[in-house]
Parts: sequence; structure tokens; C-alpha cells
Amino acid sequence: MKNVVILGSTGSIGKSTLDVIRNLKHKYKVVALSANSQWELLSKQVNEFKPESVSIADERCVDLLRNSLSGNSVQILTGENSVREMVSKENVDIVLSAIVGGAGLPAAIEVIKSRKTLALANKEALVMAGGLIMPMAKENGVNIIPVDSEHSAVLQALRAGRREEVKKIIITASGGPFRNHPKEKLSEVTKEEALNHPTWNMGKKITIDSATLMNKALEVIEAKWLFDLDATQIEVVIHPESIIHSLVEFCDGSVIAQMGLPDMKVPIQFALTYPDRENGNAKLLDLATLGTLNFQKPDMDKFPALRLGYEVVEKGGTMGATFNAANEVAVQAFLDNKIKFTDITKAVEHVMKEHNFIKDPTLQDIMDADEYARKETKICLS
Ligand SMILES: NC(=O)c1ccc[n+]([C@@H]2O[C@H](COP(=O)([O-])OP(=O)(O)OC[C@H]3O[C@@H](n4cnc5c(N)ncnc54)[C@H](OP(=O)(O)O)[C@@H]3O)[C@@H](O)[C@H]2O)c1
Repeated sequence: MKNVVILGSTGSIGKSTLDVIRNLKHKYKVVALSANSQWELLSKQVNEFKPESVSIADERCVDLLRNSLSGNSVQILTGENSVREMVSKENVDIVLSAIVGGAGLPAAIEVIKSRKTLALANKEALVMAGGLIMPMAKENGVNIIPVDSEHSAVLQALRAGRREEVKKIIITASGGPFRNHPKEKLSEVTKEEALNHPTWNMGKKITIDSATLMNKALEVIEAKWLFDLDATQIEVVIHPESIIHSLVEFCDGSVIAQMGLPDMKVPIQFALTYPDRENGNAKLLDLATLGTLNFQKPDMDKFPALRLGYEVVEKGGTMGATFNAANEVAVQAFLDNKIKFTDITKAVEHVMKEHNFIKDPTLQDIMDADEYARKETKICLS
């Protein structure tokens, strides 16, 4: 039996992870769950999966959760040490972090310090602090297994050759709901249109990130850190069907792709079972029925977020934390109907230019850059 902690179990990835574990319950046991404020769903999950401990970040929800679980022996935690308490338990084998946004960075650091395998969906942690997290993981002998479908695809394709034989990786992008939308009309798109992703059903923040192509920018940065690549070794191609999840090109010209219908349960399961595979219950790919797959170059003029992502890869330092924090604040402002869709990327670019760049930051410098970017973005959008 492998014991799993799921951080962010009430979100889109968290719920899919529980689906995967339902199917693999002969081999995987949930020992801890966490959420921000959705205490009712968390309570249901506790009743079904019977973890030893559970944590809720929003302190206003602790009593509601406790009352709903009266008579249940589960340990209920809150506060900044709760993640440490859950993940550092000796019986924990894998922690899947599906927290959204920068809130996931301290959790990722706790998992690494506790020397537990980290299955990472929370790409923002790497975007903010990949330069600190990756060496820390190495030092502690911790494996970081990507959950993102593109990075899972790269990890799988990399197994076809040796590291020094890799020429570049090619990350696919659906192009989002506005792939064919005229550039001059992008400023008029609504929240509802932006939340209507053509191929993936995800949490709100990543769905907006997919519409701006900010998600692809975050993934380019994530790939840099996970696979130790420079900007010239990471290509993005638009592939509207989301069947090829990413590819690796080797030095002899061979290109290895990982394919499947768009279903996050596949990369989630691979992250849990890595380096092995288990029978899954995903719908199977039928290429003849699909018929055609399409590819095109991304339009960085229409979607400047991707260009900014490459700038972050090239500059490193505090640029990732600034980029991520500005984007989080701007996405929330768009979701609150306070700004236009095109203001998201404009605000991020403005804050990246303004911030006091540090090339080799400490964790404190990164947290300061995050705080500065959140404040500055609010000011520039007000
Ligand atoms: N969804 C996808 O298909 C997908 C694919 C690839 C990568 N990812 C990445 O996976 C992560 C999660 O995405 P998602 O779509 O699953 O997001 P989501 O549906 O919004 O879920 C986010 C989870 O994080 C919890 N959370 C939010 N703020 C928190 C805080 N301050 N402290 C502790 N927990 C907090 C939420 O709790 P409450 O429910 O209580 O608010 C929820 O459980 C993101 O980094 C995303 O980029 C997602």
C-alpha cells in the first residue's frame, strides 16, 4: 500500500486524484486531505476516504468542518503548520499538491523538507521559486513528478533516450477559446466566454490562464526548471485537439510524442504510479475516428503572455515570482468583472518592468517580489 496526501483535494485536480485512487484502492490509501474553504465537500471526502488527518486553510471554516465530522476520529488541522504536520508523518509516501496559485509554494517546500515524493500539479510553485526548489529537492533526494499533462508527456517521452541525446521539447497548447478570435476584439470578451475552454474542464484560474496563453507561459517556465532546459530548447505548438500532450525531439531527428484523449486522470495516475504503470479507466484513443490532427505556430502578437513567459525563462531570478503574482491578481480582477481580458497581460508586463529584479534571490527575496507584485498590480488596475 502507498499512503497519499492530497493538498487541494476539493479542486478539479484534487477530485480527479480521488477518482484515480477509487480505482486503485487496492494499492493507494489516502492518509490526509486539505482544502481552503470548501468544508462540506472536504467533510464528504473524509467520510468516504477515512484519512487520518485533514486540514482547512480558512480558519472561519474549522468549526463548521469539525461539527460536520463530530464522532469521526480524524485529526482536524488549520494554520501555517498544518501542511508540515500532515506531510511529515512517517507513513506518508507521496504528496500530490493540487493547491492553486502561490499559496502552494510553502506546501511544496514542506514536502521537500519532509523528503516525500512530490507529485506536483501546482506549477505556480516552480514558476515562483524553481531556482530554489529544484536544488532543494536534489539535496533532499526528493523526486518531483509533474502532474501537468504536458510535463507528464515530456517525462514519458524522455524515457525513449538518454538526457544528453535530447535536442528540445515541444509543448502543445490547445490555443484556448480565443484561438480564432480577431485580436482587435479580444478586449471585449466576457468572463463566461473565457471560462468556456474547448477541450479541458479545469478550475477557474487555470481556465483563464489558458485563454490568455498565460498557462502556456507558466508551463514553459515549469519545463525549464523540471527538465533543466534553456529557452531555445522549449518550443510551443498550437494543437487544438489536445491529443498529443507534448513531444521530445532527440539528436537523431526522432520525435517521441505522448498521446491520449484529454483526461487529467491519466497524468495524475502516472504521477502516483511512476515509474510504473497500472491499469486505468480512461477512455481510449481511436485515431481512425479522430481522423485529423492540426498544428500551428502560436501568435505571440495576439497572445503576448507567451512572449513574457520566455522572458521569465531567460531572466530567471525574481522575475518568475513577479510574473506569477501579477497574473494571479489580474486574473482575479477579471473574474470579478473589474478589468478587461486584455488588461491581464498588460498588467503583468507593466509589473515585470517596474519590479526591482534580483538575479540570485533568497526565498525571502521571492516572497518580497510576490508581495510587491500583488500590491503593484492592484494599484495599476485600480
Ligand atoms: N485543473 C486542471 O486540469 C489542471 C491541469 C494541470 C495543472 N493544474 C494545476 O493544478 C493546480 C490546481 O488547479 P485546479 O484547476 O484543480 O484548481 P481549483 O479547482 O481551483 O482547486 C484548487 C484547490 O486548492 C485549494 N486552495 C485554494 N487556495 C488555497 C489556499 N490559500 N491554501 C490552501 N488550499 C487552497 C482549493 O480549496 P477550496 O476548494 O476549499 O477553495 C482547492 O482544493 C493549479 O496550479 C493548476 O495550474 C490544473
